[in-house]
Amino acid sequence: MSGFSASWLDLREPADRAARDATLVKQLTAHFEARGGVAGLLDIGCGSGSTWRSLAPHLPPQARWTLLDHDAALLAEAERRIGKATTFRKQDLADVEALPLDGVDIVTASALFDLCSQAFCERLLRRLAANRCGLYAALTYDGRIDWSRPHPRDAQSVADFNRHQTGDKGFGPALGPRAAEVLAHLAQENGFAVQVAASPWCMGPEEAALQQAFIEGFRRPLLEIGTLAADEIEQWLAFRQAQIALPGSLCVVGHADLLALPA
Ligand SMILES: C[S@@+](CC[C@H](N)C(=O)[O-])C[C@H]1O[C@@H](n2cnc3c(N)ncnc32)[C@H](O)[C@@H]1O
Repeated sequence: MSGFSASWLDLREPADRAARDATLVKQLTAHFEARGGVAGLLDIGCGSGSTWRSLAPHLPPQARWTLLDHDAALLAEAERRIGKATTFRKQDLADVEALPLDGVDIVTASALFDLCSQAFCERLLRRLAANRCGLYAALTYDGRIDWSRPHPRDAQSVADFNRHQTGDKGFGPALGPRAAEVLAHLAQENGFAVQVAASPWCMGPEEAALQQAFIEGFRRPLLEIGTLAADEIEQWLAFRQAQIALPGSLCVVGHADLLALPA
């Protein structure tokens, strides 16, 4: 168990799909077309297969995919939904040297790199560069959250949440909101041609279930950081939950997509 439930990943998948930058997906498609349709992809931290479901329809039908995760339950769910034509690997991706890159042109990932450390990203980018393997990293949280109806405790709550995001998620201290920026810098340093695009979640009342779960996800981090008192946190959470269903209310959560291709 990784701490990411299939039900949470299902909840976010439609918002993720809507948020992905379409231009970068087109560039990825063009990259494979220029290579005559030959495509080997490794999706790291695949969860239940959201990246595959988003990208596969845009890629050549002969694309070969390997989906990798350390969570056996999520991997089994991905296999159940996608079928056996794809390869599934239960593996800890923190061991960068052991990642199966033979025949892989592009490593893909979604909602992963904010969990990762700088040291992990440095090792991964070096290995990708040595293998002339590109990277498509979508939906990296960038630390920005805006609500259409503000509350005086929004800024402190987001600051505390972002600080909590930099705790160790299995790779050493996580980059959290700095991840997309650091990844882009490391990819450039390693000689890749890099493009970055914004991919924010824009959640209105129609995304009420996702918003409720997202807000609920603040409680533990805010309590653990401890800047705000428990009753202040509960008041803020109650205000935020009450706003979700109101007509015209909007919550925007910043993400970034990155495409790094061997130059
Ligand atoms: C936020 S989820 C994203 C899942 C999927 N990419 C998506 O967009 O729905 C992060 C995923 O990374 C996986 N993960 C986290 N640390 C990992 C590690 N050290 N090795 C392999 N997978 C890992 C988790 O199990 C989880 O499936």
